[in-house]
Amino acid sequence: MASISKNFMLSDLVSTDKIDQLPSHYIRPLSQRPNLKDVSHDSIPLIDLHDLYTPNRSHVVQQIGKACSDYGFFQVKNHGVPESTIANMMNIAREFFKLPEEERLKTYSDDPTKTTRSGTSFNTRTDKVANWRDFLRIHCYPLQDYIHEWPTNPASFRDHVAEYCRSARWLALRLIEAISESLGLDGDYISRQLGKHAQHMAFNYYPPCPQPDLTYGLPGHKDLSLITILLQDEVPGLQVLRNGNWVAVDPVPNTFIVNIGDQMQVLSNDKYKSVLHRAVVNFEKERLSIPTFYCPSPEAVIGPASELVSDDEPAVYRKFTYREYYEKFWSIELANEDCLDTFRDSSST
Ligand code: OGA
Ligand code: NI
Repeated sequence: MASISKNFMLSDLVSTDKIDQLPSHYIRPLSQRPNLKDVSHDSIPLIDLHDLYTPNRSHVVQQIGKACSDYGFFQVKNHGVPESTIANMMNIAREFFKLPEEERLKTYSDDPTKTTRSGTSFNTRTDKVANWRDFLRIHCYPLQDYIHEWPTNPASFRDHVAEYCRSARWLALRLIEAISESLGLDGDYISRQLGKHAQHMAFNYYPPCPQPDLTYGLPGHKDLSLITILLQDEVPGLQVLRNGNWVAVDPVPNTFIVNIGDQMQVLSNDKYKSVLHRAVVNFEKERLSIPTFYCPSPEAVIGPASELVSDDEPAVYRKFTYREYYEKFWSIELANEDCLDTFRDSSST
């Protein structure tokens, strides 16, 4: 194992040494670079959730369904998560990444099965090129099973993060219900497929980068979740693949970005696609993003909803447990393999 020595985390390398060139292990080969000049700023749908509980609900459900099938990504406003909950969360995350390295290394692990861990890059066991990112990953549902593992520094970390987790879960459940309806399923159908349910969260910290055109914060990938709800600061960085082109999703204050993850792709039998996305880094500014991954619990059996399978539209995937998928996800290299390929139903092709 690599020794945890001076400047183990990227943020400390950047703050202690004046770096004006990327260390070579961060440099992508020419063919994999972000080509930032070719990125458009078309944006993705912005959906107002206010009417989800008025007689206009079906209109919002329809908009959500259209965004899921056309983009796999959308933004939401009037989402019901209090501004103060969000502000506390962002502030505590910023404080965490300003702590001395030794403090942040208390939770360090490169073992993806650890339910609370800090680290750098994406998965140092499989990354061939390093990513310009430090992170803290936590599991947060059921809260009482995990909260005792979380950092206690900053002092109010557990309080603020727990409050945010509850709100984010509430929003996730509302969205999952609406998405279920948009597929013509009962509102609680998808929720019932998730076993006991699970929720993870990442705190992504992307320090300023001397050569942002040579590397990534996170290379193109799809999420392991059912849906992901992303909170980000005001610095751009997220890009989404649409019709073969990368589109920058510039931050809109007081919104969340929602995207379809691999589990929803399977449950919807490919009606809704988990879309490639990536995070690029910034020359001047640090960037913070906090995705909530809403997921099945490990023993839940995931497969296409039977109502969405017919002779004309056979099941695209076999059934699998979320545990099986999760192990596969963490064993492959993020950018170069599609995790769902292993779970395709060979009898349907
Ligand atoms: C992720 C992710 C995007 C971002 O953590 O899975 O896609 O903007 N993050 O940080
Ligand atoms: Ni992602």
